[in-house]
Amino acid sequence: MRKKFIIGNWKMYGSKASVKALLTTLKSSSVPPSVNVNRIVCPPYVFLAETQTLLEGSQIAWAAQNMAAEREGAYTGEISAAMLREFGCRYVLLGHSERRTYYGETDDLIAKKFKLATESGLTPILCIGETLKQRQSEQTEAVLQRQLDKAMALGESVFQQGILAYEPVWAIGTGVSASAEQAQKVHQFLRQHIALHYSDLAQKLPILYGGSVKPDNAKALFQMPDIDGGLIGGASLHAHDFLQIYGDCVSITN
Ligand code: PGA
Repeated sequence: MRKKFIIGNWKMYGSKASVKALLTTLKSSSVPPSVNVNRIVCPPYVFLAETQTLLEGSQIAWAAQNMAAEREGAYTGEISAAMLREFGCRYVLLGHSERRTYYGETDDLIAKKFKLATESGLTPILCIGETLKQRQSEQTEAVLQRQLDKAMALGESVFQQGILAYEPVWAIGTGVSASAEQAQKVHQFLRQHIALHYSDLAQKLPILYGGSVKPDNAKALFQMPDIDGGLIGGASLHAHDFLQIYGDCVSITN
C-alpha cells in the first residue's frame, strides 16, 4: 500500500499568535493518528523555528513552501536546504503554481531544486498542474508531461525520493475543486506516463491532489484509487477543517 499524505500549505498567512494557536490545536487533537497517513504543515519560513519547538516529538511533520536552488552564497532573501534541515524540515514544496506564475519558476529551475533537496535529505513535493485555458484547449496531458519530464530526467534514484502533487491551477483557491472523477483520470494518466520510464515506481509513488479540498469533498477524492491524499491550502488554516480532512483520509485508509 502507498503511504498517504495530508499536507497543509499555509502560504503567506498567519502571525506568531495564530501559528501557535493552530499548532497547539492540531497537536492536541483527538483524531486518532494513523501510521499510514502522514500529516505535514508548511508554515512560512519565519515560523519554522516556533513550529519545530511546538511539534518536536509529535506525529505532525513540518515542511517549507520553497527553497533556494543553490547550496549557499550571496543570494539575498533566499533560504537554503541545509537551513531548512537545521529547523527540522523533512519535506519541501517545489514548483507550486504560485511560484511558477508570480516568480517565474521554470521546470529547469524546479528540477535543480528537486535534486538539491534530495541531496540535502529533504523529500521534495513536486507540484504540477494545468491552467483553465490549457484544460479547455485540451493541453492538460501535454502540460503535465512537460512539468514532470525535467524532474524525471534526473533519474529514477533521484525522482523516486519525491512526492507528486497534482494541483489544477483553476482549482487553487477558487472553491471549485476538480471532481473526484476528473482528478482520478489525471492521476491515472500521471502513473501511466511515469510507467513509460519507471514502471515499478509508477505504482509506488504517492500522488496527492490539491485545489479547493474541503471537508465536504475530501472523502470522495481520497476514495479514488490513484489519489494518495491531499495538499490543502485554505482549509489547512482552520484546525477543525484540516483535522476533519485528515480524519477522512485515515478512515478510508485503515
Ligand atoms: P487551496 O490551495 O486548497 O486553497 O485551493 C491549495 C494549494 O495551493 O496548495
